[in-house]
Amino acid sequence: MKFTVAIDGPAAAGKGTISRAVAREFGFAHLDTGLLYRAVGAKGGNPVLAAQGLTPDDLARDDLRSLQAGEAASRVAVIPEVRAALVAFQRDFARRDGGAVLDGRDIGTIICPGAEVKLFVTADAETRARRRWLEAGEGAASYDDVLRQVRERDTRDMGRADAPLRPASDAVILDTTEMSIAQAVDAAKASIAAKIAQTQGQKQP
Ligand code: C5P
Repeated sequence: MKFTVAIDGPAAAGKGTISRAVAREFGFAHLDTGLLYRAVGAKGGNPVLAAQGLTPDDLARDDLRSLQAGEAASRVAVIPEVRAALVAFQRDFARRDGGAVLDGRDIGTIICPGAEVKLFVTADAETRARRRWLEAGEGAASYDDVLRQVRERDTRDMGRADAPLRPASDAVILDTTEMSIAQAVDAAKASIAAKIAQTQGQKQP
């Protein structure tokens, strides 16, 4: 069975947590596409060549989750040739047998416009900054610095010319500002379960 779940949204909105939980629930493979851009940024040198030559080892680096790696990722992500070099890998992953969940910024709009389920997970900037700050551990950066970075990243991700962050017209918007993790995960599962039931219903003679 081919079944793609596209989960987009700004940094620290809860995409990763929701994606992992729904992938586990439905037995789908999961790709965190931010890791691809983080790996390109972390490699240094010419970002286009880095993207064209990305290897599994590059994705296994243990420094990709840092705030700095996120910053570097959003800088290389504005380069159209970098994005183009990563398209085929993401599309192949999305159409693998057994179902796939991809989370990122442009999955529902550019990478998989035909995805069976599209979710746009968001939350206000202060809530997202607080989550990132708690995640990074006190001492890593001040809350104000993290908030500034979140806002800068939003501006860059939403303002770039190529594949800007925005919800697909047919995406379900999930605002997690006032939600617990469990509530957000349940809402995502419900959207996916409804689409699976509908797809199976259509297959009946
Ligand atoms: O989601 P994550 O914080 O790991 O993404 C890091 C950066 O990579 C984002 O701020 C964004 O600029 C870029 N990105 C992107 N398209 C994606 C995933 C990530 O442009 N599909």
